[in-house]
Amino acid sequence: MCGIIGIASNKSVSSNIINSLKKLEYRGYDSAGLATLKNNVINEKKCSGRVEQLEKILFKTPAEGSLGIGHVRWATHGIPNEINAHPHSTEVVSVVHNGIIENSSDLKRSLENKGKKFKSQTDTEVITLLLAEELKNKKPLEAVQDTLVKLKGSFALGIIFKNFNNIIIGARRGSPLAVGYSKNENYIGSDSYALKSMTNKISYLEDGDVCILTKDSVEFYDSNKKKINKKVLILSEDKNIAQKGDYKNFMSKEIFEQPITAKNCINEYIDKSRDEINFYNFPLNPKTVNKVVLIGCGTAYHSCLVAKYWFEEFTSLSVETDIASEFRYRSIKFSKDCLYLFVSQSGETADTSAALDLCKKNKVKTCSIVNVVESSIARNADWVLPIHAGPEIGVASTKAFLGQMLLLYMLSIKLADLRNEIDKKEYQTKISDLKKLPNLLEKCLKSEEKIQFVAKDFLNSKGSMFLGRGFSFPIALEGALKLKELSYLHAEGYPAGEMKHGPLALIEDGLPVIVVAPNDKYFHKTLSNMQEVIARGGKILLITNNNDSVISENVRFTINLPSIEKSLSPFLSTIPLQLLAYHVALLKKCDIDKPRNLAKSVTVE
Ligand code: G6P
Repeated sequence: MCGIIGIASNKSVSSNIINSLKKLEYRGYDSAGLATLKNNVINEKKCSGRVEQLEKILFKTPAEGSLGIGHVRWATHGIPNEINAHPHSTEVVSVVHNGIIENSSDLKRSLENKGKKFKSQTDTEVITLLLAEELKNKKPLEAVQDTLVKLKGSFALGIIFKNFNNIIIGARRGSPLAVGYSKNENYIGSDSYALKSMTNKISYLEDGDVCILTKDSVEFYDSNKKKINKKVLILSEDKNIAQKGDYKNFMSKEIFEQPITAKNCINEYIDKSRDEINFYNFPLNPKTVNKVVLIGCGTAYHSCLVAKYWFEEFTSLSVETDIASEFRYRSIKFSKDCLYLFVSQSGETADTSAALDLCKKNKVKTCSIVNVVESSIARNADWVLPIHAGPEIGVASTKAFLGQMLLLYMLSIKLADLRNEIDKKEYQTKISDLKKLPNLLEKCLKSEEKIQFVAKDFLNSKGSMFLGRGFSFPIALEGALKLKELSYLHAEGYPAGEMKHGPLALIEDGLPVIVVAPNDKYFHKTLSNMQEVIARGGKILLITNNNDSVISENVRFTINLPSIEKSLSPFLSTIPLQLLAYHVALLKKCDIDKPRNLAKSVTVE
């Protein structure tokens, strides 16, 4: 992962580097650092911990200079400490890196054989030492280009040079890198969000590209060292600049703004006067496509799992779901009549991006469902459906999950309509039902008080189980994932019908078991499974919209949700599970927006 920034300016850059690093912290936050250049001296400051810590260091000992690079780290090679924090510098050069150098051990060995000494345990330091060698007899651009050919793996790099006071070099292979333009100032950054407060003029590097920037100029070169031109994109005004407002943290804000997220997404795609979904430019003929494959990671993958049930229920399409890190290495039999759908909040997840590239190499049609429209995955797919959720800052995904499910739901019924597989009236009823969603989500958020009460049960338990059937099975998986991510407690999501094949052995007196059982065709089956858990001592938290009081017998706690069209229940059941994870984490005083060991955008595989 990691986030990088570089600024070439005519004024001091360290405070703008710090501001940008704060925006990049979603990419990693276990250490931070920067290097500025003044009078041919590289000033390097770094620390373990957050950007706040780095800011304190700079307050005491400022880093002067009108040129600099900065980094937030998510450790891959070497523990998160000050030495392993970036930049990695020698006398002559300083480097920040996002990605993994896969042949770093071999390179390190050969450098050590030549007598070179390493200070850190990182893979990045090999780049610094290789560059220092090349710089003995080459100019910076050539030295960088000749170093890059020795590297295997993925990288985005920001580099400054002691003897060249006015240039920053950026390079990209695999990991994203943007360039920003302004008056008397130019930038490199891991994403446009980090640059947005300084400029709205952006270009993106493609794999193999190198850029060299000064405060007044930017030049680009491709992997063949040929000078190239880049399109300058003008970013849209960000109406939704991420601010916490009165909320304790971003995650609670993002949970509570889900009714608005749903409303925006619905307004964006549904023509209310005609009860019609506006999706145009399908990359394949909707009538001849015969299969969809849904691919994602983490929470995005869970939205794919929910969508599988929708596509299967409403269309005759065959449906597969895949975790991107598995998909990319399997021997897939690609089909021209299949639509490959990539779901990603950030649009930068390395595995999802690589799976998309694999599809492109095999010349099949792709669609991306993303939140960040300027992202690599959005740019590389044949067709893009943005979820319009606004920036999601909390590492654990909440409102983006809702947006992903919404898009996938709309796509499933739209395809069913275009393929004449759903009755027109039923299609329009489904659209009318969708329009009720924002209000119903609002009601679900009222479960917070009850959830706060049950959250205490989780503090001293040795784990918990989340159960569901049908649409509610992936929702159970997502509930368990949220709890793990936020509270560091062990939680397992399971199809309720599978309990008897092993996991039932885990049930003992007082173990919290969350049962997601909306009023659908699985309801009674799920309830029978719940009884089997109760009989073995499990302490049940039931989430349902079947408000028959009899079902609550022997249940420790019931969260009653509003009634909704059956296939829409995943939207509602998700809310109490997000709140549960949130409140358990709050009781445990965990860092809610930045859980340990995780990052928002996972740009390493
Ligand atoms: C990380 C995040 C998760 C997210 C996953 C996939 O692990 O912490 O919240 O679900 O990446 O990210 P994407 O941006 O592709 O949806």
